[in-house]
Amino acid sequence: GGVPAAEALQHADVSALLPRPAAESDKYRRGVVGVVAGSARYPGAAVLAVSGALRGGAGAVRYVGPAADAVIARHPETLVSDGPPSKAGRVQAWTVGSGLGEDRERLEDVLGARVPVLIDADGLRLAGEAALRARRAPTVLTPHAGEAAALLGWERTEVEARRLSAVRELSERTGATVLLKGSTTVVAGASGVRVNPTGSGWLATAGTGDVLSGLIGSLLAGGLDALDAASAGAYVHGLAGRLAPRPAGASDVAEALTEAWRDLLRGDGR
Ligand code: APR
Ligand code: MG
Repeated sequence: GGVPAAEALQHADVSALLPRPAAESDKYRRGVVGVVAGSARYPGAAVLAVSGALRGGAGAVRYVGPAADAVIARHPETLVSDGPPSKAGRVQAWTVGSGLGEDRERLEDVLGARVPVLIDADGLRLAGEAALRARRAPTVLTPHAGEAAALLGWERTEVEARRLSAVRELSERTGATVLLKGSTTVVAGASGVRVNPTGSGWLATAGTGDVLSGLIGSLLAGGLDALDAASAGAYVHGLAGRLAPRPAGASDVAEALTEAWRDLLRGDGR
């Protein structure tokens, strides 16, 4: 009994968790991740979330929202539409919220889906605790300290001072797996608490959180459970932060995800 101790996920653990396509795989078996992010004001958040999703191992990325032109210009492989997410076609996991602005309607549509959903940034501000508790499939929240403080009704300084308590409390209140971002990222779910051993101060730059939201959504679409997807995503993202050119922009971090995967898949040979 008692409170589970926080574990650090190691390189070999993450390597074993990452989804590999089987020889006879196809894009649907690898998983389709849906991205609902960006707005007229923040179109770049959509591009960055998609850039992370494209490097999380899913077989396809579907973008639903007003920034489709910007997404396609940068990532022509993305499937795009602009209606309700629930009408967009097959999706095995959603990531919602980065740069979303005030699009409560699409957020609520996504929260009703019976597949895993990751909620970030504006999505955290707009989703009420009741809607989170009512979810019928796994949910992952990715707040930074300020967003966690707003959700908990704590002062930001209190979250910073008691990060493990904050992430556990938020997970208990919402029933979600919670990833608290910062110089050390911690993840809490019903089955445990993990501390991320990778990362770099160079990640403290606008948009890297959006990349993380797409990456973890993609891992969820690939079939990882919420705690594994969140903690493996944090690990790979932190590794990319170490491997990216310096000083890095968020796009550089997204591109460096490929190198982080190469490190983790070394020895696979296929
Ligand atoms: N060391 C290691 N990693 C860090 C550090 C650090 N010192 N600082 C930040 N990071 C990592 C976090 O762990 C996270 O993965 O960088 C990422 C930053 O994500 P966010 O805080 O979500 O920032 P981002 O969304 O990219 O910034 C754009 O979004 O929510 C708003 O207020 C936020 O203006 C900001 C905007
Ligand atoms: Mg953010």
